[in-house]
Amino acid sequence: MTYVAPNSIQARDIASIVHPQTNLAQHMTQGPTVIERGQGCFIYDDSGTEFLDAAAGLWCASLGYASERLARVAYEQMRKLGYYHLYRGTTNEPGVDLAEKLLSIAPVPMSKVLLQCSGSEANDTALKLVWYYHHAIGKPNKRKIIGRQMGYHGSTTASISASGKFDMHADFGLPLAGFFHTEYPHYYRNHLEGESEEQYATRLADAFEQLILREGPDTVAAFIGEPVMGAGGGLTPPRTYWEKMQAIIRKYDMLFIADEVICGFGRTGNMWGSQTYDLQPDMISSAKALSAGMQPISATLINQRVFEAMLDESRKLGNFAHGFTYAGHPVTTAVAMETLRIYEEMDMIGHVQRVGPYLQKAIGALADHPLVGEVRGVGLLTGIEMVANKETREQFDPARKVGATVDKHARANGLIARFVGDRIAFSPPLIITEAEVDQIAARLTKALDATWAEIRSN
Ligand SMILES: Cc1ncc(COP(=O)(O)O)c(C=O)c1O
Repeated sequence: MTYVAPNSIQARDIASIVHPQTNLAQHMTQGPTVIERGQGCFIYDDSGTEFLDAAAGLWCASLGYASERLARVAYEQMRKLGYYHLYRGTTNEPGVDLAEKLLSIAPVPMSKVLLQCSGSEANDTALKLVWYYHHAIGKPNKRKIIGRQMGYHGSTTASISASGKFDMHADFGLPLAGFFHTEYPHYYRNHLEGESEEQYATRLADAFEQLILREGPDTVAAFIGEPVMGAGGGLTPPRTYWEKMQAIIRKYDMLFIADEVICGFGRTGNMWGSQTYDLQPDMISSAKALSAGMQPISATLINQRVFEAMLDESRKLGNFAHGFTYAGHPVTTAVAMETLRIYEEMDMIGHVQRVGPYLQKAIGALADHPLVGEVRGVGLLTGIEMVANKETREQFDPARKVGATVDKHARANGLIARFVGDRIAFSPPLIITEAEVDQIAARLTKALDATWAEIRSN
C-alpha cells in the first residue's frame, strides 16, 4: 500500500475521480501519478521527475506538451466567439476553414465533414451513417458491422462494439447485436510454419469473406479498420493485406470506414495511413493529432455517395436528425486549423520521413534482445513483440505480466511507452528528434535488461 497524504492531490483524486482503463480497487490504495507540466516530448510529475513520453500521451500529443502559438489562437478565439453551434444551419468561419482544409488534404475524394469531440464519436457517427446510408438506398437490412479482433475504435456503445477488445466488452453486455470481428492481422504471432506474409494475408481475407458469407452478404453493411492498429499493439499489416481485404469489401458492396484516429496527420510518414497502404475508404475518422491533442475535436469525412444518400433522407424526413452540442466548436476548430498550419510550416511529413527510419532502426536494433521476438513499424509508430522463446515464437504466460514488468522498469528509467499485454508500442510526439530517439532506445534497453534479469532470477 502506498502512503497517500491527507488532502494531497492523490487523496482528493481517490475521493473524487473514476479513471479510465484503471484497476479501480487498486487505485483506492495506490492513488494516481500526478502529471504537473510538459515541455516538448517530456512530461513532469509533481515531484519533478521527468519522463520521455514515447506514447505522445494517447497517440495524440504530436507537437509535444506546450504551445504558446496554439494557446494564443484559443485565447483570441475565446475572446471573439468562445462558443457557437452548427445546428439548424448556423456556421462560423473557423469550422468552415477546417472542413475545407480537411477536404483539400483528404487521401481520396471526400465530399463533406462532420465534426465531433473525440475519436469514439467520429466512429460512432460513421457507424450511424452506415445504417442511414443503407436505409436511404433501400437496403435497410444491410446493418451488420465487421471490425477486427484487437481493433480499437473507441469507448461509446457502438464504437466499442465495433472494436475487438474483448476485455472492454466484458460485463458491459457488449458488443451490441450485429457487430462481428474478423482476424487480428498479426503475421509474426499467427502465421503457420513456412507461410509467407502474402499467403497469410490471403488466409485472413478468406476468413473475412467466410464471415460475410456466414452472416449473409445482404445483411453486412460495413467494415471498419485502422490502417495500422494502435491499441492492438502498434501493429502494421502484413504485405498485401489491405489490397485483399478491400477487394472483399468491394465484392460485397460494403462501406469502408478507415479509422485514421491514430494514423492521420503524419504518423505513418504520409498525411494519412490510407496513403501509406493505398486505402479507398468511403468514410474517414480522424482526431488526436488533428489538434495535436490540445483540443477535443474529431472529424468524420464522408464521400459523395454517402452524402447523396443523406440528402435523400433530408428530402424525405425534412431533417438530418443527428448532432452534438460541441460539434464545430469554434475554439477547437481554430486550434485544429492552426495545428495543420504548423505541420505545413514545419514540413511535419518530411520530418517523420526523416526521423521515422531512425526510430525504426534504433528500436529495431533491440530485435537481438533475448526478450524480443519482433520489431516492426512504419513512420513514427513501431511495435515490439516480446516472446518467451525466440525460435518457436511462444508467448509468455500472461500471468507472468512481462509487459507490466517492462513498463515498471521503463518508468523507473523515465520512459513512457504503451503496453498491450506483452507488446510495446511507440508513437512519440511527431516533433521528436534523433537525439531523443536515442534516449528512448537507451532507456528501453535498461528496462528490457532489468526485466530479463528479473525473469532469470525467478
Ligand atoms: C484508432 C482509434 N480510434 C478511436 C479511438 C477513440 O478515440 P477517443 O478516445 O478520442 O474517443 C482511439 C483511441 O485511442 C483509437 O486509437
